[in-house]
Amino acid sequence: MSSSEKTPLFIDYDTQATLYERLTGGCTRDVASEMIALSEPVDNSSKVLDNACGTGILTLELLEAYPTLCDGATNPIIHSVDISKPMTSLLQARVAARKCSAVEIGVMDAQKLDFEEDTFTHSFTNFGIFLFPDPLKGAQEIHRTLKKGGTAVVSTWKYYGYLPILHGIQKAICPSEQLFEVPVSKEWQKPETLRELLQKVGFQDVEVHEKQARSKAKDIHALASTLKDGFYKTLTKSWTAGQAERWDEVMLNVLKQSCVVQYESDGTVALPMIAWVAVATK
Ligand SMILES: C[S@@+](CC[C@H](N)C(=O)[O-])C[C@H]1O[C@@H](n2cnc3c(N)ncnc32)[C@H](O)[C@@H]1O
Repeated sequence: MSSSEKTPLFIDYDTQATLYERLTGGCTRDVASEMIALSEPVDNSSKVLDNACGTGILTLELLEAYPTLCDGATNPIIHSVDISKPMTSLLQARVAARKCSAVEIGVMDAQKLDFEEDTFTHSFTNFGIFLFPDPLKGAQEIHRTLKKGGTAVVSTWKYYGYLPILHGIQKAICPSEQLFEVPVSKEWQKPETLRELLQKVGFQDVEVHEKQARSKAKDIHALASTLKDGFYKTLTKSWTAGQAERWDEVMLNVLKQSCVVQYESDGTVALPMIAWVAVATK
């Protein structure tokens, strides 16, 4: 089964791997660095899982945070795994460019991890758990593969800053249609969902933190283009050709008038995102 069959999302990770980081605008990177900061320091004696690693954003943030990890490593310290081969291939190329033996990359279903129990000192799952067909199995695997005393850090989205923009464009062009919703259960936007899931699989000590992130673009036109690449096909499905033709003009107006868009001092723009980050100790 390909990852796209398993992922009920508008992003197909297999075919859009190369677009992934532009579409997300660095928002998962912002949270990855918070997740690293919330966990115990990583050193050469650690065993780290980057679960549902995608293009390896968290892995690369770990190498930035702990630059000596690659020095003289003979055995892997970080295991970065994802169900999508195209996503992991991008990470493979980046790790190869660094000539770093500290990272081992694999194609793996998070619901059936190919690791022994009690393997990892640190286990990170950044925006993956709610995409697994069976999140409970995914959480059980996180718990099973973590060593006693180890820390699991798992994130979900509380708020998607692009939704008010998409709703703005829908209201302007096709006001009678139902407003778009992210195809992920709204339950995941509540901190209890993550806390209760982790407690259910055996984590007794679970703390959930709220973290801000930003989906960035170099200017308003780049942001409009990213949103078009991400959502045009889905949103215009039932529109007439005339309605779909208005997308570019209306998108720019909605972005310019929206109070959600953040303007940074370096000229870049961003949409706010808010994450829940659970830190659980086994
Ligand atoms: C939103 S991306 C997050 C990627 C990365 N962790 C990051 O921080 O950017 C979700 C990832 O989950 C992966 N995924 C979805 N279902 C999976 C499963 N059952 N097992 C492993 N990975 C899965 C996708 O292929 C995709 O790379």
